[in-house]
Formats: sequence, structure tokens, C-alpha cells
Amino acid sequence: ATLLVTGGAGFIGSCYVLARCTAGDTIINLDKLTYSGNLEIASANMQFSHIFVHGDIGNEELVEYLLKIYQPDAIVNFAAESHVDRSIIDPEAFVRTNVLGTCTLLRTAKAWWNELAADRKDAFRFLHVSTDEVFGALQPGDPAFTETTPYSPNSPYSASKAASDHFVRAFYETYGFPALITNCSNNYGPRQFPEKLIPLVTLNALARKTLPVYGTGSNIRDWLHVEDMPAIQRVLEAGKTGQTYNIGGNSERTNLQVVHGICDVLDAVCPSAEGPYAALVKFVTDRPGHDFRYAINARKLSSELGWHPTHTFEEGLRDTVLWYLNNKIWVENVQSGDYRNWMQTNYVGR
Ligand code: NAD
Ligand code: TYD
Repeated sequence: ATLLVTGGAGFIGSCYVLARCTAGDTIINLDKLTYSGNLEIASANMQFSHIFVHGDIGNEELVEYLLKIYQPDAIVNFAAESHVDRSIIDPEAFVRTNVLGTCTLLRTAKAWWNELAADRKDAFRFLHVSTDEVFGALQPGDPAFTETTPYSPNSPYSASKAASDHFVRAFYETYGFPALITNCSNNYGPRQFPEKLIPLVTLNALARKTLPVYGTGSNIRDWLHVEDMPAIQRVLEAGKTGQTYNIGGNSERTNLQVVHGICDVLDAVCPSAEGPYAALVKFVTDRPGHDFRYAINARKLSSELGWHPTHTFEEGLRDTVLWYLNNKIWVENVQSGDYRNWMQTNYVGR
């Protein structure tokens, strides 16, 4: 198949692009290469089936051109501003890409799709990759989010993703545009930009810098290994249009458990003469509006589409930490200008 993938130079998108190229699909990868996009990772081992296009999902003429030239069988929309802490500092950037960008992409794709011959029109799919954060925060003991949990976003990031999900839904209801949505829990794994908890703590620990834990470290996330994201392909191939599917890893952990897990791996594989890594933990000012707990009930995906996560968190975390240890060049490349500015903005004086 030919797929237009947006945001395919980012953390999850690049993993998907690599998997689909390996499976024999042709990928048109439209990515703006913001600070979190990295072309090197997206183009590894896939010269012949990967066409990279540097551009914005909100560029109507460009998207129109790509659709006409490449005639994709589906669009998978990963492109987004993705970090909650950045959304607290600059919410508008999230509106521009996540809301306006997605709406322009939908409108342009819908106009092109409308003119397709009946068989191609029936077969076409638009998959929008969203997050569990749109459901808001759970307390301990609350049942996990299901597909019918009402949206209740608390951060500018989750508000922008919720808005984009509503537009996707509206395009299905209003125009019959064949869209689907996945709402996924926190991903972790190789090549995640080190602004997110797991790579940030791993790289800070290796540099013997403090490990910033927001608040008391008791907030809970439900972790899913990025290589369990073939879930997306399952939904694309077998999901029902107009439906949403939750994706989760059944791996709820407190942030402190995650941080200690990383420190345990490092203590085992590269012990420091200066003592255990966990001594570097520093409790810092909490994130404003910090959602206490996320947890995903992915039963619909497992019962209707037969998908199950394959990685256990402890094994996946160990592999991830080892990946960062073994890929120093990748790490050095991303720890450049924007990374340093962000560490300054978000952490100094916190
Ligand atoms: P990421 O920040 O690593 O990657 C985002 C990619 O989108 C980057 O390559 C960036 O250059 C590109 N991009 C940004 N704005 C763009 C624009 N206007 N036009 C074209 N490209 C643009 O993010 P990620 O973690 O890979 O997340 C991918 C998607 O999955 C996002 O939609 C995110 O909301 C969603 N998601 C992420 C997680 C997670 O834990 N990381 C969990 C659930 C859902
Ligand atoms: P993050 O990786 O930013 O993902 P999200 O906010 O989308 O869940 O953060 C995961 C959890 O870790 C979240 O509860 C916030 C917390 N956290 C810290 O305690 N310290 C940090 O430096 C970061 C980046 C996150």
C-alpha cells in the first residue's frame, strides 16, 4: 500500500515508518522537522520505499499536491506538538499544528477523497493518532479510561488533541469521511526526544545531573513500548470508520517507580563510583494542572481486533535504557541548541 504518514520523523511516527517500509509499503513522510523531528532516524534502511517531504500538515497546496501525485491508500496523522510542559509555556503552537493543522489536513484530504472512484473511495482510511490525555485525570481506584469516557482535557496539549479529535469525528459525521482515532497511553522506547520522562532521566543520570521529579513522584502513567504500536496498523486495516480505539500497555507505574527502575538498570550495567544513581533524585516544583493518573482499558482493541501488548514494562525499560547507552551519537545530535534551551527554560530554578 501507499501511505501518507505525517510526523514520521518523530518518535512514534518513525517507528511506524520503519515497520511499514520493512513490510513493503511505500511511505510518503510529511514532516516539518520541528525540534523533535529527526530525519536521520526516519531514513535509515529505507531508501527505496520512503519519500521524505519537508513540510507542514497545515500547508494546503503541498498536501493537495502530495495526494494528487502519490494517490495514497491511507493517511496516518502522527504530526503534532507533543509535550505537555511546552504547551504550558506556548499553547498557541499547539493550536496551530494540532488543531488548525489537523483541520486543514482533514479538509484537503476530504476534498481529494471525494473525487476518487467508488472502489478507492470506499477503501480509503484516515487514521488520527491521539492520546489518553484527552480523558483528563483519574484518581486511585477509578476504572481505566474506555472509548466512552467523556473528554475532559486539563492541559493546553490535551485540549488541543481533544479539539483535533472532535474535528476528526465531525468530518466522519458530517461528510462521511472514513476516519478512525486511536487514543494511546504514554509511549516509551528508543529515539524519544529527551524532554520526556524516561529519556530525560536516563541521560541526566548518565551525566550525573539531578533527576527532576515533579511534585511527590506519585503521579501514575500507563506505559506502552513504542514497538507495541503495530496496534495502529491493526486499527488501520481492520477498525471500523467513525470509531475510536484505546491502546494501552496495562503497565501503570508511579513516576518514582519509573525513575527508580531506570536507576536500577544503570546501577547494574554501569555502576558509578559516586554511588547509586537514585541519590540524584530531586523533587522539584510540580507541573501546573498535573494530571494525577492515566490508565487505559484496551479491551475493545483486544476483543474486536485481537491486539495485545507484547512487552513487559521492566524488560522494555531495560532495553530502552540500554538503547540510550549504546546510541551516543544519536544522543549527542539531539542534545543540541533546542534541547539546551529547553533544559534552561523548564528546569533551571525549578
Ligand atoms: P514527537 O514530538 O516525537 O514527533 C512529532 C513529529 O511531528 C515530529 O517529527 C515533528 O517534526 C512533526 N511535526 C510537528 N508539527 C508538524 C507540522 N505542523 N507538520 C508536519 N509535521 C509536524 O511526538 P510523538 O511522541 O512521536 O507523538 C506522535 C503522535 O502520537 C502525536 O500526535 C501525539 O499526540 C501522539 N501520542 C503520543 C504519545 C507519547 O507518549 N509520546 C502517546 C499517545 C499519543
Ligand atoms: P512526560 O514524559 O512529559 O509525559 P506526559 O506528561 O505526557 O504523561 O511525563 C511523564 C510523567 O513524568 C508526568 O507525570 C510528568 C512527570 N515528569 C517529571 O516528574 N519530571 C520531568 O522532568 C518530566 C519531563 C516529567
